[in-house]
Amino acid sequence: MTGPPTREYLYKILVVGDLGTGKTSIIRRYVHNIFSTNYKSTIGVDFALKVIQWSPEIIVRLQLWDIAGQERFGNMTRVYYKEALGAFVVYDVTRPQTFEGVTKWKQDLDSKVALPELWGGGNIPVVLLANKSDLLQEGHGQPINPLEMDQFCQDNGFSKWFETSAKDNSNIDEAARHLIQTIVAIEEERGTLLTDDLDNDSIHLDQSKHHDHYSGGSGCC
Ligand code: GTP
Ligand code: MG
Repeated sequence: MTGPPTREYLYKILVVGDLGTGKTSIIRRYVHNIFSTNYKSTIGVDFALKVIQWSPEIIVRLQLWDIAGQERFGNMTRVYYKEALGAFVVYDVTRPQTFEGVTKWKQDLDSKVALPELWGGGNIPVVLLANKSDLLQEGHGQPINPLEMDQFCQDNGFSKWFETSAKDNSNIDEAARHLIQTIVAIEEERGTLLTDDLDNDSIHLDQSKHHDHYSGGSGCC
């Protein structure tokens, strides 16, 4: 018995934010379910892959680009950002200066990367992560005001914010699910529409370069 055709989407996701905010820890927790208090600053960029059975018909391959906080003033981010479809901006809730970095990272993203032209372009969806929330619970840092954060996200074009802890494994899956959901929705809306409009082989090729999706197979495993 054959089920519905399987679609596979490859999404490149950037993880950026100031030095030591927990980008690598969040990715390691999300992909390998481990946490360490040892701090080894990322040099340049690291990669991780997570494959998700998103729905019976959709497999999402998340390619996570773990970008060093110290690259902020470097000129490599334009290269790293190329063809990304979404991003997390991470700050450390116990260090207010890392929150100041958030708007700079968002501007850096908006000025250097856009959704594929086939999807009509525009800014990639960006999710804000207020990380190390376990330390807030221990009384470090200022408690977060949710209404202020909602307003901040609206004013600065963030899709949503989440309070996360790589240490306690809190809210990381939820944040990732939100970002994937947002990208899948854009892909399904704009991808199909535009592909139908522009029935051209070179465009199909170009699209597969971005998303590496194909139909076939026999449904869900
Ligand atoms: P760079 O690669 O230098 O930009 O840093 P990074 O953002 O990748 O930070 P990293 O994940 O290496 O974490 C920095 C330090 O913060 C490490 O000592 C981690 O153990 C710690 N850390 C990360 N996330 C959390 C968290 O949720 N809670 C607590 N308590 N500590 C955390
Ligand atoms: Mg790192």
